[in-house]
Amino acid sequence: MKNWNVRKTIIAREDMPEEHRLTQSLSWPHLIALGVGAIVGTGILTLTGVGAAKAGPAVILSFAIAGVICAFAALAYAEMATMYPAAGSAYTYSYVVFGELIAWIVGWSLILEYSLVVSAVAVGWSGYAAGFMQSVGAALPAAIIQGPELGGVINLPAIFIIAVIAGLLIYGTRESANLNAILVVVKLLALAMFIVVALPFFNAGNFEPFMPYGFSRSGPAGSEVGVMAAAAIIFFAFYGFDAIATAAEETKNPDRDLGIGIVGSMLLCVIIYMAVAATAIGALVYTRYANSAEPLALILREIGQPGAAGILGAAAVIALPTVILAFFYGQSRIFFTMARDGLLPTSLARVSARGTPVRITLFTAVVVAIIAGIFPLADIAALANAGTLAAFIAVCAAMMTMRRREPDMPRRFTTPLPWVVGTLGILGCAYLFWSLPVKTQTYFLIWNLIGLALYFVYGSRQAERARAARVG
Ligand code: ALA
Repeated sequence: MKNWNVRKTIIAREDMPEEHRLTQSLSWPHLIALGVGAIVGTGILTLTGVGAAKAGPAVILSFAIAGVICAFAALAYAEMATMYPAAGSAYTYSYVVFGELIAWIVGWSLILEYSLVVSAVAVGWSGYAAGFMQSVGAALPAAIIQGPELGGVINLPAIFIIAVIAGLLIYGTRESANLNAILVVVKLLALAMFIVVALPFFNAGNFEPFMPYGFSRSGPAGSEVGVMAAAAIIFFAFYGFDAIATAAEETKNPDRDLGIGIVGSMLLCVIIYMAVAATAIGALVYTRYANSAEPLALILREIGQPGAAGILGAAAVIALPTVILAFFYGQSRIFFTMARDGLLPTSLARVSARGTPVRITLFTAVVVAIIAGIFPLADIAALANAGTLAAFIAVCAAMMTMRRREPDMPRRFTTPLPWVVGTLGILGCAYLFWSLPVKTQTYFLIWNLIGLALYFVYGSRQAERARAARVG
């Protein structure tokens, strides 16, 4: 317990035991593809409707607010990732800057974020896949396409897609990243098609009344509305660039490639989202697609373009797995790094002859498959946001702390106006957290209490032993 403030020293790759080294096989195009692959997904494809239900046409503002806050965090991430290109992202930075206890809390939040995103997107994929099967006359029984809360028994398609992605990751990192790059192009072409087909139906009158539910979160617990309540959910659509930082140790030229990968993919996605959201609002009055499970396809059908709707649906089924891939990849690396530090069982940190952590990947697959098989999508996504916001706050704080503590340490990427960006990043994330549903905030608190109990009972002692073993 006395070691809660021990800070991590980054061990150079060359000094690590062979079985703990990850293969360096990625460069910046892989990273941008990994970033865009992780960012563009269920958020823009399905949560646009949820956001519209909470904010009306002003959901466009929700997109802008969540995007700007994410951009602040992305800048801090890029600086930290190039200073410490070691697997583990926010967890590793927190360990170096703030010590073991804060690192544990951040790592525990990241586990929540990454696993729940994998589960949430797998459930979203399952919805599109089930719809696709139905459209080709091979409808799956309701009992096996959704969890018990929605009247089914188990969500088998979600479990299936998780198993496929786990297999890819175990097969090898570079092969997976290359396949990912192709699927990213499919996804971007589908969104471009949406804009081209729907834009001629743009009607400025659909933006009136602009803000029917006000700005800040309001309404009873369980049905919160307002631009900020929408932004707190829409936030899900923007993150994913942090998955790139978790690939730092496997990057060939981290100094240059990480900065380009993180900031580049973030900016690209903000532009794409604003264009898609504005087109959607202009094309159809929002009440018609609010809360739809497939709002973009619905808009295309409603404006008389069923063919385009079909293509968009098929593209979603083909390409949504890129999001699962990126977060799955990040999740297994966070686990891997925490296990290597001794905070989780070290036997899990062994890598195979192909340089991939097989055990941790399998362990992660089982956990996220159980969650995806049982729980509903909306609750999973909101809780994933809570974990992400905690990690973003830690990264912004770490960036500013290091500017003060080590002002002369070389930085290959420097955040512009670091004090302004870092402070606004922290305040923005805190405001988004506050705007989340009360139920989500409560669950997040419970998750962290469980985490702290585990840390004091298990993690802190094991980490001390792992340190002693390294020194010995
Ligand atoms: N940003 C990712 C998505 O929208 C998590 O699916």
